Order: sequence, then structure tokens, then C-alpha cells
Amino acid sequence: MKVLSGIQPTGRFHWGNYFGAIRQYIALQGNEQSYYFIADLHALTTVRNPAELAGYVRDAAMDLVALGLDPAKATLFRQSDVPEVTELTWLLMTITQMHLLEKCHAFKDKKAKGVAADAGLFTYPVLMAADILIYDSDKVPVGADQIQHIEVTRDIAQRFNSLYGETLHLPEAYVLDASAKVPGLDGEKMSKSYGNTIPIFDSPKKLRKLIMSIKTDSTPVESPKDPETCSVYELYKLLATPEQQAVLADRYRAGGMGYGEAKQALYDAAMEHFGAAFERRQQLEANPSIVEDILQQGAQTARRKAVEVVERVRAACGLSSSPVPFAR
Ligand code: ADP
Ligand code: TRP
Repeated sequence: MKVLSGIQPTGRFHWGNYFGAIRQYIALQGNEQSYYFIADLHALTTVRNPAELAGYVRDAAMDLVALGLDPAKATLFRQSDVPEVTELTWLLMTITQMHLLEKCHAFKDKKAKGVAADAGLFTYPVLMAADILIYDSDKVPVGADQIQHIEVTRDIAQRFNSLYGETLHLPEAYVLDASAKVPGLDGEKMSKSYGNTIPIFDSPKKLRKLIMSIKTDSTPVESPKDPETCSVYELYKLLATPEQQAVLADRYRAGGMGYGEAKQALYDAAMEHFGAAFERRQQLEANPSIVEDILQQGAQTARRKAVEVVERVRAACGLSSSPVPFAR
């Protein structure tokens, strides 16, 4: 069984990414063969500043390792370190029907807004299909918004197999826990695009400031409050033990506690939850070669498999199974 997923380096990772995806990837590692990659080729469809992109990729890798992605249990690599994936993208593109891509939401949403889309955004799901199919992946953990792309991947693989014979392995989506929808500072879904995020690795000082800025209602200090409608409590639930949650919920309901105190409890819980990762992150930052080595090793492992699958696909299409060796 091979588990594979990718995450785009389009900004600093935040609590939404952690609870909605990264924590679940980490929980899955080691049970089966796991591949996780930083989808830098996909990020090119939105990040156009080279220094910014390079920084996001580097941060993404350090964040994942600091948070517990363990190279002894999972293969971690950069998407662009496996160039065969772009070759497979073309081979798949030649048999991908336009209507499949026209209905994909990223492109459809842009079109509906009257914004011109680049070919990269339109064909983004084909690159994603190549990402998955190139490792003969079985199980793809993704958020609900990506299920459509896994269906497209399956459609593409099926069409390829029906045209050229059984070549590509059909993956299944493994939908990540949707209940982990993390609210942002304004109470809406936490997302980079809404500017309401709590980055995982901000300094403690910045973190405290952000937590203190979480939007709450204007119930006076002495009045009872409903924890279940409060974003501070919703975030606290992600970090605290059931006992700690019950204690804070009782204090909400009893009245006499201001939101400032609840925010302080949230800050303390965050420091406890992310404290060890924060220290690991600082050590990695001081020794960047550790993470670079992990990525290079990961790319070797991933590429071995990718070359094997691309050779199979090239042969199935009637191309020579591998290009002639190149001597510089
Ligand atoms: P953003 O919305 O900040 O651009 P992405 O779309 O890059 O984040 O999300 C990367 C992963 O993190 C996806 O699997 C997504 O489902 C998950 N994720 C992002 N924000 C949240 C959130 N607020 N709650 C739960 N999961 C989230
Ligand atoms: N498109 C995914 C996202 O935005 C990231 C991604 C790229 C991916 N390739 C993938 C996820 C392959 C799973 C498998 O979240």
C-alpha cells in the first residue's frame, strides 16, 4: 500500500494546514509506504516571485520535519526534483479530454469571475494526476476540495489504460477529517487568501499578539458565554485535552471570565503543543543541510520509482522506453 500526498508551498503553513492536513499526514506515516512532497511546480501557477517561492519551499520542508515528518518513516521530496513528472504530464495530456478540465473548480471559478486563466492553471489537474500515477500510489490523503482532482486522476488513468492496455494503477482518495475545519482570526475558515491565519512558527510574541486579536463578541466579562460559538474555544479544542476543554467550557458558562483569559489559555495550550516543534525548527534553521539532505535522499527514492513508471508509460504509447543517455 502506498500513501502519497502533496502540499503547495504558497505561504507560511498555518494552523488550518496543520490540523486539516499536516497532522494527519504525520499520523499516517510509517503505517504503510508514505510519500509526501512539496508541490513547487503547482505553486508556480500562483507564486511568481522566485526568491519568495524558494523561501516557501525551504520553510515548508523545515516545518514538515520540525512537526514530525520522519524521513525514516516517509519519503519527503520536492516535486520539481523528479522531472519525469512533467514528462508524464505531457503523455497524460495527450489523452485527457477537455471537458474533464473545464469542470475543475480552480479553473471554473476563475472563468466565472471573468479572470483570464493561464494554461498552467487549466492543466493543473493533469500535473496532479501525474504526481499520483507516477508512484503507483494507492491512497491519496486530501482535503474535501481535492476529491474532484482524484476523480479526474482516475478518469485519466482509466482512459489511458483503455487506449493502451493496463499500465496505470488507479488510486483512491482518502478524505482527511473534514471536521477539522479550523477558524481564522475573524471566525471565517482560516486561509492565506483571507489574511486571517495563525502561522505555526511565528515567534511567541507575535503568536500572543495574533491570539489576542481573535474576533469575539461583546458579551460583558461577568455574563455567561457559549463556548460552542466562540472561535477561541474552537481553536482551544484542537490543542487541549478533553479534561482541559471541560474546565474552560465550564468557565465560559459560569460567567465572570473575559475573553482575554480564554485567549491566554489558548496561547498557553499552543505553546505547550508546538513548543518542542518550535525548538526543533530552530535547530533545523541553524543547520539547513539536515533538511536539504532529507530532500535529496527523498528525491532519489521517489525518482527510482518515477523512472520505472515513465518507462512503462513510454513503452505503452509506442515511444522508446527511455530517452537515449545524454552526455554533457
Ligand atoms: P490556504 O487556504 O491557506 O491557501 P491550502 O489550500 O494550501 O491553504 O491548504 C493546504 C491543506 O491544508 C489542504 O489539505 C487544506 O484542506 C488544509 N487546510 C487549509 N486551511 C484549512 C482550514 N482552515 N481548516 C482545515 N484544513 C485546512
Ligand atoms: N493540489 C493539491 C492542493 O492544492 C496539492 C497537490 C499537488 C497534491 N499534487 C498532489 C495533493 C498530489 C495530493 C496528490 O492541496
